[in-house]
Amino acid sequence: MLKDRTIVLGVTGSIAAYKAAELASYLTKAGAQVDVILTDAAQKFITPLTFRSLTHRPVAVGMWELSESFSSQHISLAQAADAVVIAPATADIIAKLAYGLADDLLSTTVLATKAPVIVVPAMNTNMYENPVTQENIGRLVARGFTFVEPATGRLACDTVGKGRMASQNEIVDTIGRVLGAGDMVGLRVVVTAGGTREAIDPVRFIGNRSSGKMGYAMAETARDRGAGVVLVSTSTLPAPAGVEFIAVESAAEMLEAVLEAVRDADVLVMAAAVADFKPKVTAKSKIKKSVPVQNLELERTPDILSEVKGKFIRVGFAAESENLLSNARGKLSEKKLDIVIANDVTVEGAGFGSDNNKVTIISRDGSEDDLPLMPKLEVADKIWDRVLSFEFGTLVDS
Ligand code: C5P
Repeated sequence: MLKDRTIVLGVTGSIAAYKAAELASYLTKAGAQVDVILTDAAQKFITPLTFRSLTHRPVAVGMWELSESFSSQHISLAQAADAVVIAPATADIIAKLAYGLADDLLSTTVLATKAPVIVVPAMNTNMYENPVTQENIGRLVARGFTFVEPATGRLACDTVGKGRMASQNEIVDTIGRVLGAGDMVGLRVVVTAGGTREAIDPVRFIGNRSSGKMGYAMAETARDRGAGVVLVSTSTLPAPAGVEFIAVESAAEMLEAVLEAVRDADVLVMAAAVADFKPKVTAKSKIKKSVPVQNLELERTPDILSEVKGKFIRVGFAAESENLLSNARGKLSEKKLDIVIANDVTVEGAGFGSDNNKVTIISRDGSEDDLPLMPKLEVADKIWDRVLSFEFGTLVDS
């Protein structure tokens, strides 16, 4: 996987910079051509000579040095790269990349490359958890950057928390995954997951049995295939690493989040079980059981798939307990979908809460693919295979 691949390794000014030397050595021994870029701050922690000795290659240290080996360094490195890995990545470089700044060789190279970029943050816990850093990470993830999450432990600043650079194994696994699969690199997808909760009062809601597992499987497989993923979720399952996660509760909140997220998306997958009705009035305080039995007046929720318009592939789910295929075909045309996943929720061992699913993938060209019961992750890959068979360039506004 690594043999004869060119990896541009960007090293920034963190105390974890010494670990990048080991990484450079490992990648070189595995047969990769490793071109290292050291920022000015990184050179306070480690020298170019270290990397030169380990990679047997020139080390790039700045934009303005006259170099024999590279013509216009940021362009030649950007073009040659099969992947750019930034390890360790400081809050500073993450912020720069999030806003497209290009004031040194590393940020310029990243801006100029079309190769996948893997970012391995390492910093003080408060800096990492600071909302501005998290927001910057979210922006980059949505643009298709891959992040390898930091580990929790004792940090150089003598605090304990999240911020240690991920292990070499994790980094190498991620590089392998990004170089290996990657048939969705450059695509941005929005996935919804879970059942919406429509509040009756501050403690009660109308909900449904959706666990969110199918949506999470769609998000995780898209991420593993190299896509930038936004996951809009009502689920209590933990947010998967490496996707932009937006927590919502009601159909109205989900609509708002999806409207924003699809703006530059290539695919929208509505795997969420959106409530069709919500209480007309939400009580401000908890309704007492002493009050006489009430009728709950309901009204329709917004139909998200009908409300969001744009030039992206639209995938819907039809969870049915009867007349599965005809109901699903009806939804395909009613909701102007490209693909509908007919999901028989009565099949033993499939559907809500289960790790397996039994679906038929129906496309607008009339093709129907009846899949056997299989793990949701495998179902998700089959759905992405179908999505990728569409010609993205020919899409029209829905
Ligand atoms: O009409 P039904 O709820 O069966 O349609 C299922 C599909 O429509 C799913 O993809 C679901 O996420 C989506 N949906 C929606 N907005 C709603 C209800 C369902 O986008 N209010």
